[in-house]
Amino acid sequence: MREWLKTAVFYEIYPQSFYDSNDDGIGDFDGIIAKLDYIRELGCNALWINPCFDSPFMDAGYDVRDYKKTAARYGTNEDLIRLFREAHQRGIKVLLDLVPGHTSDQHPWFLASCQAEENEFSGRYIWTDHAFEGIPDHPYISGMKERAGAYMLNFFASQPALNYGWGVPSKRWMSAPDSPEAIATREAMKDVMRFWMDQGCDGFRVDMADSLVKDDDEDKSFTAAIWRDIRQMMDSDYPECALVSEWSNPVQAINGGGFHMDFYLDHVGNGYNTLMRDYESEGGDHSYFKMDSGGDIRRFLADYLPKYEATKDNGYIAMFTCNHDTPRPARTLSEDELKLCYAFLLSMPGVPFIYYGDEIAMRFLDVKTKEGGYQRTGSRTPMQWNHEKNYGFSNADAAEIYLPQDPSPDAPTVTDAMRREDSLWHVTKDMIALREETEDLQADGELKILHDGTDPFVFARGSCLIALNPSGRTVSLQLPEIKETKILYQIHAVSIQEDEMTMTPQSFVILQK
Ligand code: NOJ
Repeated sequence: MREWLKTAVFYEIYPQSFYDSNDDGIGDFDGIIAKLDYIRELGCNALWINPCFDSPFMDAGYDVRDYKKTAARYGTNEDLIRLFREAHQRGIKVLLDLVPGHTSDQHPWFLASCQAEENEFSGRYIWTDHAFEGIPDHPYISGMKERAGAYMLNFFASQPALNYGWGVPSKRWMSAPDSPEAIATREAMKDVMRFWMDQGCDGFRVDMADSLVKDDDEDKSFTAAIWRDIRQMMDSDYPECALVSEWSNPVQAINGGGFHMDFYLDHVGNGYNTLMRDYESEGGDHSYFKMDSGGDIRRFLADYLPKYEATKDNGYIAMFTCNHDTPRPARTLSEDELKLCYAFLLSMPGVPFIYYGDEIAMRFLDVKTKEGGYQRTGSRTPMQWNHEKNYGFSNADAAEIYLPQDPSPDAPTVTDAMRREDSLWHVTKDMIALREETEDLQADGELKILHDGTDPFVFARGSCLIALNPSGRTVSLQLPEIKETKILYQIHAVSIQEDEMTMTPQSFVILQK
């Protein structure tokens, strides 16, 4: 296990929208470098940067045209390497975003594979061998290229699927996972990873990590085997580098694939979704952190605990405040509700991720789609640093800004949030600091549920006792474990008498023996 992950708190940066250092209206590497001290001040010690490689940006950079070259709008390879160095000097690790499942349809590998004459890249993507034969149960395109076949898509129409083979190759054109062409794809991806790790990056967030082998078995064992092979390369040649998967099945990703961390994604109906974003089911918002929503922490626990128990010795479940695909939590939760929510996320086992701007409760904005963002675009608007021009994000004309910013007079900004002592920003910073100081609160510490069902919800992390009352009522509870504890941290008033704890509305407390 990578030692540094035990204390890691990540900050996700959507590079388009973080900080524009050269007045062209879009964020860049020098902009990130300029804000590293801010990130460290908040307490984060690791970054995940969304894809920053050469791309036609049909899907915000998840359509890579050249894996080894940065997108000019962010800067050069040398600038990115300088970013690694500057981050390391401040004790910050940097994960890049690896997109192994597909490329842009403008990638030279794909252009070569589209040719009628067989060549080195004919087997790099998934093609049928007849223009009139499609791919059942999968999206594909036919009739657009010289090659007589249909090619499979992995996501949008501009993202052809790379060929890692099929679980059961039932057609002549389906490769086996151990075929030379499938192995060549995997080796090409390892070469990309080596390229960036050799330059100083600390690993990767892996896009759609479960999507490699098509029609894989129920355990995704062929796909997992590819990742185990990659993990072996990392263990032997890059022992400090780490991988976090976009898989949302930690048993498959961590135990099977050897990922160090797996994201717990916001999927309607899963445990994570019940915490902040359960507002799509009938009868209103049932999110646990929505005050008086009737939300029940047991819905989270029933899904989370078995996954945690099954994987805790091998890796970490990564929970986030939000990501670039998910509605910002401030869309439905108030600042007080968010305080409890982040305090909870930052006191759980595993590795927490904070999405840029969530520390100041940036809102989900109603904006026009940009670069394939569609419904996700509202979570990708430029950071609001202060009340200067374009909220301090850029000096360009407002019309040139990557996406519009929050027009409301009370739009949150970093300067305001830092100035206001009772802000969400301070709770986030305090909780990160506490986590850094207190081993029991870190990624590996134990977790034991002490009271659920009715508020407060109480759990133990080693010698720490954590209690939450997201309701609008004062609640109390008798628990023998409370006796002789001291308050380490609280949000809103909590009082302890002997073995009884009384919690005012929307309060949170960490007690220590
Ligand atoms: C997941 C990424 O997070 C998302 O933004 C992207 O559109 C798809 N994968 C396709 O790469």
